[in-house]
Amino acid sequence: MKKKIIIGNWKMNPATVSEAKVIVAGIKRTALKLSKVTVALCPPYIYFSDALKAAGKGKLAIGVQDIFHEQAGSYTGEVSPAMVKNAGGTYAIVGHSERRRLGESDSIIAKKVSAGLSAGLTVVLCIGEHTRDDHGVYLAFIHEQLMGALSKVSKKFLKHLIIAYEPVWAIGRSDKDAITPRLLHEMVLYIRKVLSDEYGEDIGRHIPVLYGGSVFVNNAKEFLSEGMADGLLIGRESLKPVEFSTILKIAHEVRV
Ligand code: PGA
Repeated sequence: MKKKIIIGNWKMNPATVSEAKVIVAGIKRTALKLSKVTVALCPPYIYFSDALKAAGKGKLAIGVQDIFHEQAGSYTGEVSPAMVKNAGGTYAIVGHSERRRLGESDSIIAKKVSAGLSAGLTVVLCIGEHTRDDHGVYLAFIHEQLMGALSKVSKKFLKHLIIAYEPVWAIGRSDKDAITPRLLHEMVLYIRKVLSDEYGEDIGRHIPVLYGGSVFVNNAKEFLSEGMADGLLIGRESLKPVEFSTILKIAHEVRV
């Protein structure tokens, strides 16, 4: 049984560093006790080092929500994967749909995935269709996003890759609007097939595939059990220590 991976994406929240520290401290208490879950929080850059201090050494990893695709140089406002790594970060989300909406293209995402992995970060690559249709167009879309993003990655780095399947239509909604476990399971199998066809079955089986999009305490379990996701990428609920900690316990207990 693989350890479940639960990642919190804080997006552009909270408003103050003291709130950020309280959230990390609240989550840390539970994260430290659970041996069957890997937990990472991705706060905004400005809280990164405080979050790292509050997390302390050990079980609660701190990551970032984006990285640039070069390691150093004249790129005003950007943060490189090497900087994140050197500062103690371990995870980097890349290609979130909210960044794609701001104009990030598949080719930029491909460079970021490659730069993040080469710098030694675990890259959480987000993919997801905008809508569903009856003819499988969304599957072709997922195939293209996935292979496009991995087009610059050498095979030896794939062990540090995580895929987060986040259908855009399910992000930031209510629990009733999230995907059904059955549809999620189908998609997890599809993503694994695409990866296996490209890189071989062993790699296809081992790359973790997470689900993200309106995950709450009351639906987390079904994504991990019937949905067969290897973990969750959680937005809003990752800012609430009590709820997020409950989800961590659910992930710790799930038997799949
Ligand atoms: P949500 O966000 O959990 O608030 O829907 C998920 C995400 O965008 O990663």
